[in-house]
Amino acid sequence: MKLEPAIGAALCRMDVALVPVPDTGARRLPAVLVMGDAALRHALTRDLKKAGVDAIEGEAATADRGVVFCAPAGDDATVRLAFQSARAAKLDKDGAFVVVTQLGGDFGAFGCENPILAGLLGLTKTVALEQPEAFVRVIDTAAGVGSEAIAAELGRAGPVEVALTGGERRTLASVNLPSPHGNPDLGPADVVVVSGGARGVTAACVIELAARTQTRFVLLGRSRIDVPEPPETNAATTEPQLMRALAKPGMTPPELKRQANNILAAREARATVAAVEATGGHARYVPVDVCNAAAVGAALDEVRREWGPITGVVHGAGVIHDRRVKDKTDAQWDAVWTTKIDGMRALLDATANDPLKVLCFFSSVAARAGNFGQADYAAANEVLNRTAAAEQAKRPACVVKAIGWGPWEGGMVTPALAAAFHSRGIALIPLLAGARAFVDELVNGGNPGGGPTEVVIGGLLAGDKAAPSLRRASSRDYPFLRDHTVADAPVVPVVLALEWFAQRARELRPAEFVQAVEKVNVLKGITLTDFDGAGDLFAIHTVAERADGFSFELRGLRGALHYRAEVRMGAKPPSAPRAPSAVAMGAYAHDPAAIYARLLFHGPDFQVIRRMVGVGDDAAEAELNGIREQGWTPNGWITDMAAGDGGLQLAVLWSRAALGGASLPTGIEAMRPYGVPAAGPVRGVLTGRKRDGKRTLSDVALIDSAGRVYAELLGVELHKLPAGEYPGKSG
Ligand SMILES: NC(=O)c1ccc[n+]([C@@H]2O[C@H](COP(=O)([O-])OP(=O)(O)OC[C@H]3O[C@@H](n4cnc5c(N)ncnc54)[C@H](OP(=O)(O)O)[C@@H]3O)[C@@H](O)[C@H]2O)c1
Repeated sequence: MKLEPAIGAALCRMDVALVPVPDTGARRLPAVLVMGDAALRHALTRDLKKAGVDAIEGEAATADRGVVFCAPAGDDATVRLAFQSARAAKLDKDGAFVVVTQLGGDFGAFGCENPILAGLLGLTKTVALEQPEAFVRVIDTAAGVGSEAIAAELGRAGPVEVALTGGERRTLASVNLPSPHGNPDLGPADVVVVSGGARGVTAACVIELAARTQTRFVLLGRSRIDVPEPPETNAATTEPQLMRALAKPGMTPPELKRQANNILAAREARATVAAVEATGGHARYVPVDVCNAAAVGAALDEVRREWGPITGVVHGAGVIHDRRVKDKTDAQWDAVWTTKIDGMRALLDATANDPLKVLCFFSSVAARAGNFGQADYAAANEVLNRTAAAEQAKRPACVVKAIGWGPWEGGMVTPALAAAFHSRGIALIPLLAGARAFVDELVNGGNPGGGPTEVVIGGLLAGDKAAPSLRRASSRDYPFLRDHTVADAPVVPVVLALEWFAQRARELRPAEFVQAVEKVNVLKGITLTDFDGAGDLFAIHTVAERADGFSFELRGLRGALHYRAEVRMGAKPPSAPRAPSAVAMGAYAHDPAAIYARLLFHGPDFQVIRRMVGVGDDAAEAELNGIREQGWTPNGWITDMAAGDGGLQLAVLWSRAALGGASLPTGIEAMRPYGVPAAGPVRGVLTGRKRDGKRTLSDVALIDSAGRVYAELLGVELHKLPAGEYPGKSG
């Protein structure tokens, strides 16, 4: 368990949530051929015609009209047919590609019966990027949503993904999540099978996992690594050098290139095996095509005989053939699709009876957002995402993840591709940071403890900077909020809002350090209404960006303004002040049991005051629990929310003594996080600055057991409440 100090963790971690689609006006659907599921296409054609659309029914797309593809209950061939239909259809400004799915009215994001059909989503999102002028939409419907509602939706402007449930119109949005930290529940006795694990970014992940767990690995790849190299290639390390060394009369350049790449692939795979062994883990390489179910089954039978049951599976094998849909061949589609999908099936079938502790699919952000040239890849990865949800339901005790990686500095991202990403402002995932994020993602604390199955991990995309960043408060994300309850409803504590602001600033400037969250204004407290359900969503809006930081607002999704704050960033970690010297003060009249029974509303998880040291006119001190001692699972937080709340509780108690009644925090001049506290209790030392009958102002230093100030709350402002108004307690 590690509390992140205010240092830059360069990667964003996100999952998805359904959010309402605002009314964005009308948009006319051009002439279309409606194909697919017989009953739906018939009814939809009728309703579209009624709405004045030039719609006809048919079996095969043609270049003179757009397509509405009503997905039947289907399989891989259905997704392939949709791809071929998109390729054949009219997709210019008078064209359209619409797919209607029945994945539950939520795109199957939280589990669906037939994950294969989620491939249609990745395909459509890619078509939308490649053909920005065409009318492109995927409409997912819940049971009971009829053709009339779909026809009506096709008369509106909207985002590419629209989910229809009775009367509601929603889309998927990314929610930023803090990152887990720790070691997975794997050790030297475990056996983890990794397709594609000998090379590329998956190999980097395998080596990091080996270093942290000393696990045994079975690495699957098509390359042969036991073929001896001809002596003339010994000194050659690059493809051109190898091609020159291998050149013989009569050999063609493609043949030379193939041989050179085989040598490079074998070297890379051997180096991975050696690197795993060097960590104290073990690796055996099995040359097998992961799509070949029989060969995979036989290979794993042999592993089981020698090493025992398989306890982990990582499906990292993948290939790409980037071409726009209109130029993509069936063979390219099939190669990309089968590596991911047939490979996934082979691995799942071969390990159906193994006691898996971890199951991880390497997916891509392309599945979430679509990507130019990658319709097949986006489609197949969406299937991995949905299959992960289905597998999690089947194996509740297993950590199941589909990681939608953003682009890495390595693997299939060639230097030319990396340059293209850079020019678009897209940050790449450094190998070590990505490998660490992979291992952290497998930590049991995230799943089945409730973490999301599908996550996107990557550098921040250029377009995301300007967009509001969503946060979610739910019992899965922050279970302890159950004990921060007013009138039976959980409320968001100030410390969580501060943490969200600090996280957002760090996401936007990963190379810098959070110096302070300042000018914090509590404008409207937040009561959670869906805490035990999908969670309440909030948006952090960047109101201004300056050289030294940001101005943020925290709003509800309907616009209600709850908090304002500024975050100051700097190139170096902030330096902590010396601990304030001790002040003489009187003993406090109440022990923690009495405090929480009579004076503060906090339930057990928020009862962080271990002991009141004393309260004086201008000072107060308490011994507090930090998040570690309080048993909160720290998920890559920048601040110690438990001790931070303890500091505010101390301020409330001092204010009560100073004002003769209850008060609540209304503002904080600055919260400064300086670093990671040493284990053990925290001293909360309050220095009073002002009191004027209605209002108090104080500073609180949080000092760890090594005597270091690791955080400060400066200018904590509390306003006295009218008698009887303190939440739930005698005022
Ligand atoms: N690199 C990125 O930026 C990025 C971004 C998002 C997602 N991902 C995902 O991360 C994974 C690894 O990507 P990478 O960039 O490291 O790719 P890579 O360098 O091209 O490596 C792909 C690996 O998959 C193996 N492989 C391919 N087809 C196979 C098959 N049929 N059977 C067995 N093994 C097979 C390859 O080994 P052989 O050639 O020896 O078979 C190789 O080890 C992929 O699933 C990819 O979708 C990568």
